Amino acid sequence: MRADIVIKNISQLITLRGENKPRTCKEMSQIGLIEDGVVAIKEDKIIYVGQGELPSEIVVDDDTMIINADGKTVTPGLVDPHTHLVHGGSRENELDMKLKGAKYLDILKAGGGIHSTVRATKAASFEELFNKALKSIDTMLELGLTTIEAKSGYGLDTENELKQLRVAKTLNENHPIDIVSTFLGAHAIPMEYKENVEDFIDIIINDMMPQVQKENLAEFCDVFCEEGVFTVEQTRKILNTAKQYGMKPKIHADEIEPLGGAELAAEIGAVSADHLVAASEQGMKMMADKGVIADLLPATSFNLGIGKFANARKMIEEGVPVALSTDYNPGSCPTENIQLVMSLASLKMKMTPEEVITAVTINSACSVGRQDEIGSIMIGKKADLAIFDSHNLSYIIYHFGINHIDKVIKNGKLVVDNGKKINV
Ligand code: NIG
Ligand code: FE
Repeated sequence: MRADIVIKNISQLITLRGENKPRTCKEMSQIGLIEDGVVAIKEDKIIYVGQGELPSEIVVDDDTMIINADGKTVTPGLVDPHTHLVHGGSRENELDMKLKGAKYLDILKAGGGIHSTVRATKAASFEELFNKALKSIDTMLELGLTTIEAKSGYGLDTENELKQLRVAKTLNENHPIDIVSTFLGAHAIPMEYKENVEDFIDIIINDMMPQVQKENLAEFCDVFCEEGVFTVEQTRKILNTAKQYGMKPKIHADEIEPLGGAELAAEIGAVSADHLVAASEQGMKMMADKGVIADLLPATSFNLGIGKFANARKMIEEGVPVALSTDYNPGSCPTENIQLVMSLASLKMKMTPEEVITAVTINSACSVGRQDEIGSIMIGKKADLAIFDSHNLSYIIYHFGINHIDKVIKNGKLVVDNGKKINV
């Protein structure tokens, strides 16, 4: 078989080979490392993975692109399963409030926080939202991300929730990054519904969800289950209805207060529970039993300054599969930098480099339901690869705060070279 692209002499080829299932406990350390690795690609698929030289059945001709990855580390394209990509405006005004001691939930209660981004998102046109998000996904691609999830949640009315989701859909169709959409109409309670939350839930269920389904705008549905936002009861109702509309549940669970979001995620069979900084031990056990993925977002803990990170060690030891995300959003985590998240996961949550790379590849692919196509470097999988200018995996995590990417291959095409997006 003729190869279109060959990557050879790879110092560390991290394949993550194995079953297309969420990995936990010791499995999170088994990364399928090959030294002096070689990968061959034809069209958008991986056709060979091995060590040393290519076998004779893989044909290389003058048109084959040969990439010499001597001194470099190759991983599956990174996957970010939790972002609030599409939104208007920014919230640097909150920095000063934070420095003076204001708390995230207090800012929200006073009509700021998510509400201020809702105002900016409503005021923004489709094109403005598109162009702002485009800048962010260009950055993400250059950082090694090849698939991301993107949530709505800054419209909080039917027209503007749909606007956000349509922007994500159009970006997906026009950019190398694959975007998996999540409907997050239950991200905050609009100020005008403070006294009659059930009326707002009725709109989510009876107006927003049917239209999201009709236009096929979201695969997942998420709820911000938090003190002063949606209760466990309300979250259960919203997500059980979402299932009837063909959306798989995710939950912003136990981010700040231990409300029982982890337990609810297990009860309703959510694909993931995200944040979990305040999750109970019982909740973690229930998640392990049901195979709910923990999407952890350490850059959010860092940026909120709450002095507490999710207990990743306990989760991994209890058998919960852990994924990692940026949580990119304008309030609690204004960064697209998944590599920074990887360093924080290691430094602040004591995850090993092997666990970290598992969390941002195969486990995060599972968290967006794409495990059969992406998340590991195996024959037949999509040719989505990240090439790091680093001799080994540990160095990427240890030398923090910079972009280590040299090249990114997406769907079998070179889309980033020398750390910069190229036109394809
Ligand atoms: O995941 N917690 C809720 N949603 C986001 C923050 C959104 C915002 O502050 O704009 C989060 O932290
Ligand atoms: Fe979030």
